Amino acid sequence: MSITGVYKGLDNVPIKETVISTIDGEKGKLYYVGYSVEELAEKSNYEEVSFLLLHKRLPTGEELKDFSNKLMKERTIPNEIWSILEKTPPGAPLMDKLKAGVDLLGLFDGEAEKTDKAARLSTAIRIISKIATLVAGVYRLKKGLQPLEPDPGLNHASNFLYMATGKKPNALESKIMDVTFILHAEHELPASSTAALVVASTLSDLYSAVSAGIGALKGPLHGGANERALEMLMSIKTPEEAEQYVLRELASKRKIMGFGHRVYKTFDPRALIFKSYLEQLSEMRKDRKLLEIANRIESVMIRELGSKLIYPNIDLYSGPVFNLLGLDKEIFTPIFAAARSVGWIAHILEYWEDNRLIRPRAVYIGPGPRRYVPVDER
Ligand SMILES: CC(C)(COP(=O)(O)OP(=O)(O)OC[C@H]1O[C@@H](n2cnc3c(N)ncnc32)[C@H](O)[C@@H]1OP(=O)(O)O)[C@@H](O)C(=O)NCCC(=O)NCCS
Repeated sequence: MSITGVYKGLDNVPIKETVISTIDGEKGKLYYVGYSVEELAEKSNYEEVSFLLLHKRLPTGEELKDFSNKLMKERTIPNEIWSILEKTPPGAPLMDKLKAGVDLLGLFDGEAEKTDKAARLSTAIRIISKIATLVAGVYRLKKGLQPLEPDPGLNHASNFLYMATGKKPNALESKIMDVTFILHAEHELPASSTAALVVASTLSDLYSAVSAGIGALKGPLHGGANERALEMLMSIKTPEEAEQYVLRELASKRKIMGFGHRVYKTFDPRALIFKSYLEQLSEMRKDRKLLEIANRIESVMIRELGSKLIYPNIDLYSGPVFNLLGLDKEIFTPIFAAARSVGWIAHILEYWEDNRLIRPRAVYIGPGPRRYVPVDER
């Protein structure tokens, strides 16, 4: 069969059907199993959203209690894993430490190779729960601190924030962390979910697939933009300077971080939710500097590039929110990974219901068949 035509970047190539999520890029809407993220962020919590994505329906009260309890009980990480991670180079990227941690979790999980539906679901719960502990722990180790024991009295997101910062969050901080986990939980098939799916389609194990997802998310074209958006906001001193900054960067044909999206051609709905929480958090901290700079950049960008359909994406406002929660920028992408683990796994479990090995082709443009020349004759 001759193969012609290349779908560069697999742009708009559908590789599976799904009921897990859908994005309306023109209207700026994102739905998980039919529920809008705005409504989920307002009324739900990460435990319930995780159940929704894995089971493709909302849980009953009893099911939610049971699922939350299971997540809570799986939070600890074997000490052997901490002592290996403690010996990794202190300067190594946190995403690499997280990836190594997930591989180690797989290595230490005697049930990882089981393939029946119930066993896979239990493995999924173990990964989703422990990955948050891993992120908080490698973050602390990198700062020269010891990982903290999880607090069974806190929900998934609040416990994560506590394990990362050592401080129990107040009501607003707790809500913001929960919303962070909800809004990063799922986003159809970006590069990381696709990478995880490719690995899973070989019928490899869930840990290997999640590890591949982390590797893909690490890249600056995917999960790394939130750090760089915050760096930009922090390098600018006043809103007036922000306007000059944007005009200068655009004149030099450089991209402004936290703007533009392959799918959204209007406001990313998650950006608007983060923006409202940034307003509340800035009020609480009595520190509106990052908010005012981000607002000015937003209005200048819309004035300058609105006609090209370039609008703020989630990364413009998530970075300043994390900063005001007391988190260093190197943990931003790992938080994204911890929250997204459920989206990766939900897509894998859905795909396994009717698995087909993902095996694309390449169009060969090299030389025709020719004789091998031994090295001493070349
Ligand atoms: C996300 C991103 C890679 C999408 O790229 P894309 O699909 O190629 O973008 P588009 O094709 O819609 O871009 C249309 C035009 O707007 C410009 N543009 C897009 N994003 C821009 C940005 N953030 N700043 C300045 N100009 C931008 C493009 O250069 C292009 O200009 P041109 O018509 O003169 O060539 C890109 O917007 C980007 O690099 N954004 C910054 C990084 C970021 O925030 N990433 C996180 C995404 S969630």
